[in-house]
Amino acid sequence: MVLRAGLVGAGGVGARHARTLAGFPDVELIGITDPAPGVAGALAADLGVPVAPDLPALLRQRPDAVWLCVPPFAHGAPELAAVRAGVPFLVEKPLSTGLPVAEEVAAAVAAAGLPTATGYHWRHLDTVARAREVCAASPPRLVDATWLDTVPPPAWWRRREASGGQVVEQLTHVLDLARLLAGEVAEVRALPAGSTGAGRDVDDATAALLAFTGGAVGTVTAACTLPAKVRAGLDVVCDGVAVELTETALTVTTRDGAETRQPQVDARTAVDRAFVDLLAGGPPAPGLVDYAEALRTHRVGVAIAESARTGAAVRP
Ligand SMILES: NC(=O)c1ccc[n+]([C@@H]2O[C@H](COP(=O)([O-])OP(=O)(O)OC[C@H]3O[C@@H](n4cnc5c(N)ncnc54)[C@H](O)[C@@H]3O)[C@@H](O)[C@H]2O)c1
Repeated sequence: MVLRAGLVGAGGVGARHARTLAGFPDVELIGITDPAPGVAGALAADLGVPVAPDLPALLRQRPDAVWLCVPPFAHGAPELAAVRAGVPFLVEKPLSTGLPVAEEVAAAVAAAGLPTATGYHWRHLDTVARAREVCAASPPRLVDATWLDTVPPPAWWRRREASGGQVVEQLTHVLDLARLLAGEVAEVRALPAGSTGAGRDVDDATAALLAFTGGAVGTVTAACTLPAKVRAGLDVVCDGVAVELTETALTVTTRDGAETRQPQVDARTAVDRAFVDLLAGGPPAPGLVDYAEALRTHRVGVAIAESARTGAAVRP
């Protein structure tokens, strides 16, 4: 069976998904749409795929699935249109800038019983599977989630109302792993450093404390004032074991010493492969994060952003 896929949003990550899908022998890209003049056309010409004028036109072609790669502020309408058309979708993280749109989409997806996937590709790393085993054997007591980076190129990223801010937009990958390894977050308390960047109201830095329902505690540190990414990942302290996880390495330290391994899986390909396989009737891959699961992570990021804004403790 060949899966007929459509792409909505042909920017940085949309182009990445399109190239990945174009490389799968069992996927046909049937259309690409993007409201920015020329953006869909350039990618479509490159891949030999037709441009669709808009999402309704793309959905009228009855794709088997669509990949929704729009910026955080643009969520809601594309997902709800896909649900109304009965078309499964993979949507990029974050699910939205805040909660109302994501909760509405989650309810619509659940009511329709539609298969979904999200762009939390780190979950497909074999190193994450190994970290899960370690943390299952020795439950985490302390989690440190961090993302120290530069301001990404898209203009929308700099505005909190458009991106949701660094924790919601970027650190969400690591919050997702914190939940995976240490369980659900009961409460967050956060402080913002404020913004000193020209034309940017996203905070320079955020520091937060997490209380997990299982009793572990956590810290969150995010900063976007650097010339390039310095570190993005998770440190987990268990009883007698330390786990250090980034997108490119896992180090497990025990009393016998430290062991470092690199991922053997290309998670950015695996995230698309997993959804295609699911839609072909296969079982869900262990790394597949559907909309409902992604929403649980999104709630934690939004809670941190809200606590940073209000000064109050927030329960996700
Ligand atoms: N999972 C990952 O590793 C990863 C990596 C990069 C980006 N992302 C996420 O993907 C999303 C997009 O990021 P990007 O870097 O591609 O941004 P981008 O600005 O490069 O591209 C977004 C594209 O979406 C288009 N767009 C805007 N509104 C639209 C709408 N309503 N319908 C269709 N297209 C619309 C824009 O014109 C633009 O071309 C962000 O939420 C980002 O967090 C995820």
